[in-house]
Amino acid sequence: LTVRVDKPGAPIAKTMYGLFFEDINFAADGGLYPELVKNKSFETADHLIGWKAIRGGAALSTYIVSGQQPISVTNNHFLRLTAATASPDAGFLNEGFRGMGVKQGAEYTFSVYLRRGPGAVAGLNVTLEEAGRGGPGPEMPASGQMLAQARISGLGSEWKKYTVVLKPTATAAKARLKLTLDGAGTLDLDVVSLFPKDTFNGRENGLRPDLVQLLKDMQPGFLRFPGGCIVEGRTLAERYQWKETIGDVATRVPLINRWNTEFTHKFTPDYYQSFGLGFFEYFQLSEDIGAEPVPILNVGMACQFNSAELAPVSSSQGPNAGEAHSHADDDPTLEVFIQDALDLIEFANGPASSPWGAKRAAMGHAAPFNLKFIGIGNEQWGPQYLERYEPFAKAVKAKYPGINIVSSTGPAPEGDLFDKATKRLRELKAEVIDEHYYAKPEWFRQNVGRYDNYPTTGTKIFAGEYAAQSVAIGSPDNKNSWDCAISEAAFMTGLERNADKVVMASYAPLFAHVDAWQWTPDLIWFDNLRSYGTPNYYVQKLYAANRGTTMLPMQRGDNAKNGQDNLFSSAVADDAAGEIVVKLVNYSAEARPVTINLQGAKKLGKAGKALVLASNDLNAVNSLDQPQNLAPKEASFKVSSANVAYTLAPHSFTVLRIPG
Ligand code: AHR
Repeated sequence: LTVRVDKPGAPIAKTMYGLFFEDINFAADGGLYPELVKNKSFETADHLIGWKAIRGGAALSTYIVSGQQPISVTNNHFLRLTAATASPDAGFLNEGFRGMGVKQGAEYTFSVYLRRGPGAVAGLNVTLEEAGRGGPGPEMPASGQMLAQARISGLGSEWKKYTVVLKPTATAAKARLKLTLDGAGTLDLDVVSLFPKDTFNGRENGLRPDLVQLLKDMQPGFLRFPGGCIVEGRTLAERYQWKETIGDVATRVPLINRWNTEFTHKFTPDYYQSFGLGFFEYFQLSEDIGAEPVPILNVGMACQFNSAELAPVSSSQGPNAGEAHSHADDDPTLEVFIQDALDLIEFANGPASSPWGAKRAAMGHAAPFNLKFIGIGNEQWGPQYLERYEPFAKAVKAKYPGINIVSSTGPAPEGDLFDKATKRLRELKAEVIDEHYYAKPEWFRQNVGRYDNYPTTGTKIFAGEYAAQSVAIGSPDNKNSWDCAISEAAFMTGLERNADKVVMASYAPLFAHVDAWQWTPDLIWFDNLRSYGTPNYYVQKLYAANRGTTMLPMQRGDNAKNGQDNLFSSAVADDAAGEIVVKLVNYSAEARPVTINLQGAKKLGKAGKALVLASNDLNAVNSLDQPQNLAPKEASFKVSSANVAYTLAPHSFTVLRIPG
């Protein structure tokens, strides 16, 4: 193998390896966003998702979801409880997101809005208790071990927020919250929250620390959000609207999740987006983990796999032709979508004196977020996409010429890099095209040269969603196996060799809750307390942490193509560290000695560092109980000349860092 150290190529984009976040598999509520109460404001379609009455014998005489004099016009439902007689067990339970994960001695802030009605209710008893082995749902035992308790008193006849801190006496993965009336009479409750004090960077309304840490450890170049298909929604009315996700958390109205569907393996009829994790929090998260924010916006098209509903391109075509359009329009025209994008850029980058910049500042971030990218459309293609994309991109560029636009294309591998729509995007001088591919592991190894003949000038590539699928596309039995991960590592040598064309890449999906997933495989798995990175995670991490700064051409002495005989390789220079970085994948069951000729290297250090991910078992996986079953191992190796000898382990992905 020859690395042309003397012939450095193009710079590697800082955004080269990043993250794709979508609220699928309980990635947001029940995952990254650590609110423990499900449906805290009673605003889901049937209002009581996640809640269950406890009668206390017959003490709880009625419970209704009411809209009489609510807290606000947006949060306009609340729970009204009436107890005919006093009972320690008259009230309601909240099951959390497949239970509530709580830790012994940690602090959890319980808050609630209360209003006392007729009768003599003196207070609200708040109990955190073990849900029992059966877990949440109909099989929940009537009561469990008490973990923490508090009482709220001093109730008034007007809405008021009450706060109390709970400190569990034991750790439980599946706790539940019990709220009972102290005395007989009527009490109104709304915005019930149980939120851990321990959040990443200690932020209020912050995120689950172990999950953010896993992201930060990857050193991601960008964070793409909020999806995925949820950008589009099953119908346009169910699309993601960023403006509904900012401001006071208590006023954010939940929306049914597009992944609340029987289409996938585990039907999750309770799957809503609370938007506690909204656009402000996504920008803040990007900043916290050092990633460029890449919001993806709806182009005026619903999800192509569902209704395929389209927004009319101009107001003259729309049902409300000639009328002014507001964000809440039921039949929004394309103009509404374009305005949303322009306002988002102002929200992110505008001065605190601008209308949308002022909203950001009011949320505690006076400085701009320095947004550089927006995506127009998620996974859309063809003439209907182009018809909407063209005026959309034109309007964005007219107002914000410095913003880079990520445009969309259909799912590969069927999609052709040079198809009509993609050609048109290139003619339009689209900056970055977002390609998606979910395929068998062998596809990844066989297509390592996918970008070899792609033009080096003009439009660049964002491999925006990809994952090798072990069993079949969409099969629930897909595993995050070593076979998938090593095949992705092999394919990524092709991305790196073409880093003058490919400027962004992200595995998808990112997160999955072990009890509530709809899609496999996924990069990071978690339950209510624990989390782990899959072998695929470690592949992504090794690439991102060893991104380097400049491409170095690499050839094989036998003139074989990259990937021939199951040997894959790429090389970069890390100018900041003063190191040459070589990535090697040996997809064979035999150890493989290689000699790497560092052509033109001036002065090499005496020892290099090898980071090795290897297993003889292509079916090997990580799990909650064995999170590091497959994880990189570090070793040093001798460098005695510019011809570096190294033996690759069977079925291995190796990163060699050589000072020079
Ligand atoms: O990553 C899961 C889904 O795959 C995304 O929501 C969508 O963009 C793609 O089809």
